[in-house]
Amino acid sequence: MTNQDDNQRFTIVTDVRGLEDGISGLIRAAFGGQDDEAILVRQLRTEGAMLVELAAVADGVPVGHIAFSRLATQPKFLALAALAPLSVTPARQGRGIGSALARAGLEACRTQGIAAVAVLGDPAYYGRFGFTLEAARMLDSAYSGPHFQALALIPGALSGGPWTVRYPAAFGDL
Ligand SMILES: CC(C)(COP(=O)(O)OP(=O)(O)OC[C@H]1O[C@@H](n2cnc3c(N)ncnc32)[C@H](O)[C@@H]1OP(=O)(O)O)[C@@H](O)C(=O)NCCC(=O)NCCS
Repeated sequence: MTNQDDNQRFTIVTDVRGLEDGISGLIRAAFGGQDDEAILVRQLRTEGAMLVELAAVADGVPVGHIAFSRLATQPKFLALAALAPLSVTPARQGRGIGSALARAGLEACRTQGIAAVAVLGDPAYYGRFGFTLEAARMLDSAYSGPHFQALALIPGALSGGPWTVRYPAAFGDL
């Protein structure tokens, strides 16, 4: 997938091998120099919890990144993923890269049979992709609250709850 935007072309790639250092750098920059989210991504890979990972690449350099990881549910199985983190390198923000990554990532999750996705973030941003606070009410997680949203990729997937949701161990320190 290639986009033309203000003379800035970027491509979304599904194979991030060889891009890991650049991805760590852009995540750190997007989060104001803090390393927590870049460490989270590395630990999700190590833990084997990563379900979908996409990078937006411009001129061979990663300029955006999104991760979806597997969530455990109780009392019964629900194919549920967490969207976190989403990052765009500061100089390229506001040009559609984050939205393109979110939409492509949600489509990749749907293709993998993920029934629903949860996210912790600003409803004003994630609402544009269909996430709602209401959909997350069936999910009881460590992050439940006014910024915890969900999106059913399979219609009705979130109506059979409630579920208790456990995040991958990599989230433990956040
Ligand atoms: C949030 C982020 C990923 C968005 O990526 P982006 O490429 O800049 O976003 P897009 O160009 O696709 O979308 C821009 C729109 O999102 C809005 N937006 C950006 N960040 C937002 C936020 N935190 N809350 C609400 N809206 C936000 C912009 O105002 C703009 O709105 P408009 O389309 O109505 O003009 C990026 O700004 C970023 O990396 N921020 C720092 C890291 C972060 O906060 N990540 C999200 C938490 S996991």
